[in-house]
Amino acid sequence: MPLRVRLTLWYGSALALVLIIFSVVLYAMTARNLRDAVDESLEDTATIAVRSLEERGFLPLLNEKELLSQFPELARIDKFFQIFSPSGTITISSPNIKHHDVPLSRTALETAFSGQSIFESAKYPNEPPLRVISVPIMYRDKLLYIVQVGTSLESVGETLHRFLILLIVAIPIALAVSLAGGWFLAGRALRPVDEITLAAQRIAAGDLSQRLSMLTAHDEIGRLAATFNNMIGRLDASFRQIRQFTSDASHELRTPLTVMKGETDLILRRPRPMEDYKSVLESNLEEIDRMTRIVDELLFLSRADMGEVKTETLPVALQALVEDVHRQAKLLGHDRNIEVVLGTVMPVVIQGDDLRLRELLLNLVENAMKYSHPGGKVEIALLRDRREARLSITDHGIGIAPADHQKIFQRFFRTDAARTHTKKGTGLGLAICAWIADLHKGRVEVQSDLGQGSTFTVVLPLVHPSA
Ligand SMILES: Nc1ncnc2c1ncn2[C@@H]1O[C@H](COP(=O)(O)OP(=O)(O)O)[C@@H](O)[C@H]1O
Ligand SMILES: [Mg+2]
Repeated sequence: MPLRVRLTLWYGSALALVLIIFSVVLYAMTARNLRDAVDESLEDTATIAVRSLEERGFLPLLNEKELLSQFPELARIDKFFQIFSPSGTITISSPNIKHHDVPLSRTALETAFSGQSIFESAKYPNEPPLRVISVPIMYRDKLLYIVQVGTSLESVGETLHRFLILLIVAIPIALAVSLAGGWFLAGRALRPVDEITLAAQRIAAGDLSQRLSMLTAHDEIGRLAATFNNMIGRLDASFRQIRQFTSDASHELRTPLTVMKGETDLILRRPRPMEDYKSVLESNLEEIDRMTRIVDELLFLSRADMGEVKTETLPVALQALVEDVHRQAKLLGHDRNIEVVLGTVMPVVIQGDDLRLRELLLNLVENAMKYSHPGGKVEIALLRDRREARLSITDHGIGIAPADHQKIFQRFFRTDAARTHTKKGTGLGLAICAWIADLHKGRVEVQSDLGQGSTFTVVLPLVHPSA
């Protein structure tokens, strides 16, 4: 069942229940009030009648004319009047009762002897019910008369009947009107949901550039749309990234393959001396090494993406690690005429994976050496403050334009300056560095300008012994 129908039905049922309870209570209260009002006016009339009889010294009234002049309210046809003797026989009665025979009931007579008034209702076939009050008149503990005042309940009945009809007509109308209103409002409230559904269908059909328009930005629907847009944005970005990545990866692998194929084709065209074959095979081996490296790094990154890389969390003495890498780099630098020196190295122990941290540092030092000019100098330093360790590698090489500072961490990205400087390199090293830093809840910062050299700083949080 559609949400709109369900909402309207729920709302309608609740409203109907409220209306019916309300009407029943209202009807009961009105009926009671009307009856109370009748009783009150009967009592008032009876009181007046009794008082005036008392004033007359309880002389029995002689005729109706006298009666009417004594009690003008009897002229109002809605009340009749009877006086009974203690034996229960009618002494006198008002003209408007003539066609009725309203005897004094036994209970009324008994109550009168005990000096009490009593209300009674009397029913007659085919006629509206009557309501009567019987009041005793006592003199020195002796019952002299019983005064009875009565009235028809016809008008009360009619009023209640009209009221009932009004309720029976009004309730369905009110219900219908508010159901229509509820239907309309539910439709209005749910329209954005329909829009979102349609947009989601278009997006699911493959158009990830689609976004939901957010007309009602701050309500629940607006938040839903914003969340949805956010999600699509991220999907869009990651699909783009995957496409870009695939094309970059194919391109990076095709270049060495093209080189190898070209060289091999050429050398096979005619017989050549042994040395020529050897040099082609050597060159091919270089390209194979390069491709192997790309594939290894890609494999590592994809396993890292899938959370399949096992890592340890053990105390790592960073100063020892720095000294090791420095020793290794000094040897490499010797061949390339690059001096690798140690700056300030403070003793720091962090929690982490020794092998990965070593890889991170070596990657950065290799970059620094690779992008230095011959005869350049690379400095490694390790500082610490109360919260973090700062491991920095500074070179005076080709540098990186500020616009590229973020991009160099993307897979396969290499600056133009780097490409012209050296053919070596895959563009994957810094992506791996960033992942390792992230693994240790740290980050890699870059300070560099084109042609000015660079400083890469690995910032790693310290774990306090108490924590
Ligand atoms: N020390 C550096 N000096 C200048 N450019 C650098 C340095 N380190 C990294 N880069 C730039 O960042 C790019 C990405 O680095 P990296 O991911 O390690 O790839 P690779 O070293 O294989 O080129 C490099 O191609 C280069 O353009
Ligand atoms: Mg590198």
